[in-house]
Parts: sequence; C-alpha cells; structure tokens
Amino acid sequence: MSGTPPLTSKSRRPNNRPPGPRGSFAPTLQFQRTPLEFLSRMLDEHGDIFSVDLLGMPTVVLNDPTFVDHVLKRHHHNYDRNGPAVEMARNMFGYGLGTAARPEWLLQRRLLQPAFHRQRIAAFDEMMTTAIETTHDRWEQARIAGTPIDVGAEMTDLALRIVLATLFDLNPGDGILRTFTDAFTVTTQELASFMRFPLLPLSVPTPGHRRFHRSLNVLDSIMYEMIRRHRADEGSDQSLLSRMMAARDAESTEGMTDRQLRDEILTMLFAGHETSANTLTWVWYLLGRHPDVEQRLRTEIDTVLADRRPRTADLPPLTYTRQVIQETLRLYSPAWHNYRQAVADDEIGGYRIPAGTTILWSYYFIHRHRNYWPNPEQFDPDRFSEAKNIGGIHPGYYPFGAGPRMCIGNVFAMAEMQLTIAMTLQRYRLVPTSDKVIAPVPLITLHPRRPVTVHLERYRSLSSPSTGSR
Ligand code: HEM
Repeated sequence: MSGTPPLTSKSRRPNNRPPGPRGSFAPTLQFQRTPLEFLSRMLDEHGDIFSVDLLGMPTVVLNDPTFVDHVLKRHHHNYDRNGPAVEMARNMFGYGLGTAARPEWLLQRRLLQPAFHRQRIAAFDEMMTTAIETTHDRWEQARIAGTPIDVGAEMTDLALRIVLATLFDLNPGDGILRTFTDAFTVTTQELASFMRFPLLPLSVPTPGHRRFHRSLNVLDSIMYEMIRRHRADEGSDQSLLSRMMAARDAESTEGMTDRQLRDEILTMLFAGHETSANTLTWVWYLLGRHPDVEQRLRTEIDTVLADRRPRTADLPPLTYTRQVIQETLRLYSPAWHNYRQAVADDEIGGYRIPAGTTILWSYYFIHRHRNYWPNPEQFDPDRFSEAKNIGGIHPGYYPFGAGPRMCIGNVFAMAEMQLTIAMTLQRYRLVPTSDKVIAPVPLITLHPRRPVTVHLERYRSLSSPSTGSR
C-alpha cells in the first residue's frame, strides 16, 4: 500500500521481486493448456511465492496460506477483483457480485447478504428435496434397465434445477428450466473456450461467438420476463429473486435495477451450480473407492434419519456427512484457483508487490500443502472430526474463500449437498462401473477428466425395512 512500512531485511533479494521467469509468452500458453502441471512445476522450482507474466500481466503466484490470508483478510482493502480474466467474464455476467469491483461490489454484497442467511436458506427445504426426489424418480428407469448413469451430468442437472427453482420459485419439473438449462450450458461452454484462448474479441462473429450471443439472448429474454413477473407480483413468494428485489440500500433506500438483477441471477446460477455439482460428483467418485467411508455414512444416515425425508433442521447431527463433503472440498476444490489485483504497492513475504500486479493462488495446491496436511493425497474425512478440528477452523483451508468476499452461498451449498447425499444413500447404492483412477481437469471449475459412471442398486435401510417399498 502507499504507506507500506520500510522493507524488511528478508526483502533485500535480487530485484526485490519474487523469483520466476519474466518476459516470455511461453508460461501463458503452458498455464492455459495444462495449468496444474505448470503450477506444480513452478512451485517445485521456485517455492511458495514466485512471479511470472500471464496474459501479458505481471503475476505473483502464492502457495503459502499466510500469504493468501494477507490478500483475502489482513490487507483485503488493497486487493480487488479486476484484470483480464474478470474483464472477459463480464461479457456474460456484467457486474454481478462475482465480477464487480469496489465500491459497487460492497453495495451489492450488503444488499444480497440477508437473502443468504442460514434461516432463510431453510425456507428452500421443500424445493431442494423435491428436486432431489424428481432426479431419483428419473433414475428408476436406468436402475430397472441396468443402464449406467453419468453422475457428473446428473449432478449438474440437479444442481442447476435447485438453483433455478430457488431463484424463480419454480417447480423443479417446470419446462422452462430445460430451455434455460440448455441455453445456459451453451453460453458457459462458449465463454470458457473464449477465456482459454482469447485470440479474437467476442464481437468478431466466429461460429462459437455467434452461439454465445444467441444463447445469451435466450437467457436474457427469460430473465427479464421473470423479473417483470416478479415485479408485477411484488415479490410475494420466497424466491431468491423476490428477496433480491425487496432489498434496499440502508442509506439511499434504493433497490436494484433490472440490469443489476439480471447480472445477479446469472452470477448465482453460475457460481451456484457447477461448484456444488462437481463437489457431489467427486463425493460419489471417492465413495466408490472407499466403501468403508460409505458404510459409516450409511450408518449415520440410518441412525439420524432412517427413511424420513430430511429437512435442513436434520442436518447438524449428520456430522460425518459434513466431514465427507469437507474432505472432498479439500482434495477437489471446485474453485481450484482465484485471483485479485493489487490496488497500491504492497509487500508479501518480504517481496515488493507493485500496484496492478495480478495475485494468483490455487486451492488445489494449498489444500495439499505438506506443512499443513499430513498425508495430503489421502482421502480421510476424519481430518475434520470435532476432536481434531478445534473451533472448526483449519489454517490453509479455503474451499469457500475467506475474508469479506467469501462465498455468499456456502450455507446454501452445504445444505443442498448434505441433503443430496443423505437422500441418495437412503434410496440407492451407487456402484462404480470402473475402478480406474480419474484425474482432475481444471476448467473454470475442477472437473473429473473422464465421466464418473455408476450402476444404481436399490438400498434397503437396515434400520427401516419400509424403505424398500418407497
Ligand atoms: C460447493 C459449492 C461452492 C463452492 C466450493 C464455492 C466457492 C466459492 C469461492 C471459492 C468463491 C470466491 C471467494 C473469493 O473470491 O474469495 C465464491 C464466491 C461466490 N459464490 Fe460460491 N461456492 C459454492 C456454491 C455457491 C452457491 C450455491 C452460490 C449461490 C447460490 C454461490 C455464490 C457465490 C457468489 C455470488 C460468489 C461471489 C461472492 C463475492 O464476490 O462477494 N456459491 N464461491
């Protein structure tokens, strides 16, 4: 920052900037093509802080949680959401919560925060559990036919239905969801391709860019129609959209414009479905490889719920279910990396950080840091047991980020994931079709490189024979 204290003795290193290659385009290509391999190699070579030019921007990569805490918590005022990647994402999301910079971001965050309060998320119980049951009912055909299902595709469909239903107060079986889901999938795929190789601006009408604009227009027309309907009803339902519409700025008493609402709807949809869907996909993959963990989960679910349809009030005693999710989020954080831009000069780890520097870090590597996690590659939900997890806080664990920009949807996400796991295990065994290891592939979120496919078998709860007849 401008008032940065004098540099410490540790900072008197060559050039006073973190080690690392500069002035070449090669790292950008390597980072775009194989980001995990590139970062792994650079971390081995340079340690927990290094500098590199990415997309023409001087970038400092952090891998030490104390440095990340500096950016996200202690000096968060000096780090904002700007830079080339955010600019590209604004083509779709405008200035929604995830892509806005200060001061607008802070105003939006204050307006939106109450809608995500724990008690208000409980009002989504019915929508979430209905969506999960609708998915299970659809699975019955595959179970009876003995056809494997693609867990990733199923979890994506489910998470999208849940977030759409809660945003607009729609029945998860509503036909409009299909149109929206299809257009949304095309738009995000085209945006992801553009962000990976941004050779031509989106205004140049390549076939992919045309698809992007066409499907974004479909989304826009549905969203503005939903906004019009909700305004006409004066937000009489429990939907997230009605809550967002009702929110008023404490000082100006102004609410959000239609354009702001549109940007927030798209942001919630994107931030709120791929993340949960990928986490759940990794959960089923890991359970398939760790039957002992699955058995402990079943015992917990049988004991706490038997065959009763759960509600969010039932979730706190499902402690082992929560631990399984936490450990999955450690190994396969969907938000596998994040970045900020330095507003003013600062110092991290004894190195000078000039204003405008992009700061990047990857939760994939931080969550496997040997100084913080014994046997980091091992799947061990007991790391998060009450006994070991004093105060519920692990240093160096950030699946939902940290500081003032921490994920606004974390309570929503944990509720939907716990409900999905509990209800699925009440009804099914998911038997993997293969025991091959599946590597992660970092797209916008962290996906499995190959589809996770399973056969469905009916599960009869040991504690309640009646489950078999449901
Ligand atoms: C497993 C599920 C999820 C994970 C792992 C996750 C993770 C994250 C992370 C790491 C951030 C970035 C924080 C930062 O920049 O420091 C974030 C931001 C955000 N998330 Fe989530 N998220 C999840 C689910 C959700 C859901 C369900 C919603 C909404 C319904 C949501 C909405 C958002 C929004 C709007 C932001 C931007 C917040 C801001 O900049 O103020 N997320 N999330």
